[in-house]
Amino acid sequence: MTHLEELLAVAPSRISEAMTIAELDALDAEFVGRSSAIAAARRSLGEIADGAERGLAGKSINQIATQISALLDARRSDLLGAQESRRLSEDAVDVTLPGRRIPRGTHHLVQSTMDEIVDIFVGLGYTVATGPEAETEYYNFTALNIPRTHPSRLESDTLYLDYGGKKDEVLLRTHTSPMQARYMEKHDPPTFVVVPGRVFRSDAVDATHSPVFTQLEGLAVDTNITLADLKGTLASFAQQFFGTDTKVKFIPHYFPFTEPSAEMHAYTNGRWIELLGCGMVNPAVFENVGYDPAVYTGFAFGMGMERMAMVRHGITDLRTLLASDRRVLEQYR
Ligand code: PHE
Repeated sequence: MTHLEELLAVAPSRISEAMTIAELDALDAEFVGRSSAIAAARRSLGEIADGAERGLAGKSINQIATQISALLDARRSDLLGAQESRRLSEDAVDVTLPGRRIPRGTHHLVQSTMDEIVDIFVGLGYTVATGPEAETEYYNFTALNIPRTHPSRLESDTLYLDYGGKKDEVLLRTHTSPMQARYMEKHDPPTFVVVPGRVFRSDAVDATHSPVFTQLEGLAVDTNITLADLKGTLASFAQQFFGTDTKVKFIPHYFPFTEPSAEMHAYTNGRWIELLGCGMVNPAVFENVGYDPAVYTGFAFGMGMERMAMVRHGITDLRTLLASDRRVLEQYR
């Protein structure tokens, strides 16, 4: 056997043992590269003087080179194929795995209660307005006929801010009623508006109090609005929100900005419960905002959203609504 035939004998097993492309590249150089035995044999062909003999020798070198090259190519494509299928199986996506769920968000119960109640009044023809949480003493109290000496103006009830002057202090509104005055100053009657918003009082947190809570104010002004309209409107609201068989009753009360004034109570879950304050707009308030009290009458009401939510859902501690515990909130999607 010539040197090259020996090479051909060992090449198949050496090539099939190459496990990486790099190993195969090394074999490629060794077997058929520029410093391989085959290249050397080709270079020495010129030393064969006899033309026919040189031809035969050249032919057999080429055959051996072709066979080894074919083995190298076959192994190369095997290795590349294996590499590709490894990459594919590593990248594989198991479409049968369960997906990762993104927890669904929800509105807070107070927000959804407010949205629902606003919707009820929109259904009754009311428009929606909002006003500032930092309010002046004038709109929060004075315009609403609340006397200078009224105890609710004291710092024990009202949170005052360090703005404004002695003449008109700035405070955190204690109710949404200041928007009655602001709205009437800007809009001529007929006026049918509800005002949802946050209000603030100097209270410590307990089962029924919070320094921050949410109210919805209502105001209806036109010629010939009567107490019957107030009662019918609020009874309709209560029945839409608490159920069609909800009974309501009105108990005389006092608010400086309404006259007469009342509390509306509703009979739900087996007992009477106070729901809101209301009354016929005091003519003194009309005077303050430039509505002619000889022409117009109206009613107003204010209710707490947290209270509405608690009554409807039988929640007994207000702090349940303040805690933002998802286990609680998720129950009221
Ligand atoms: N503003 C009153 C309160 O916060 C509620 C109310 C509003 C009463 C409108 C009568 C009319 O208690």
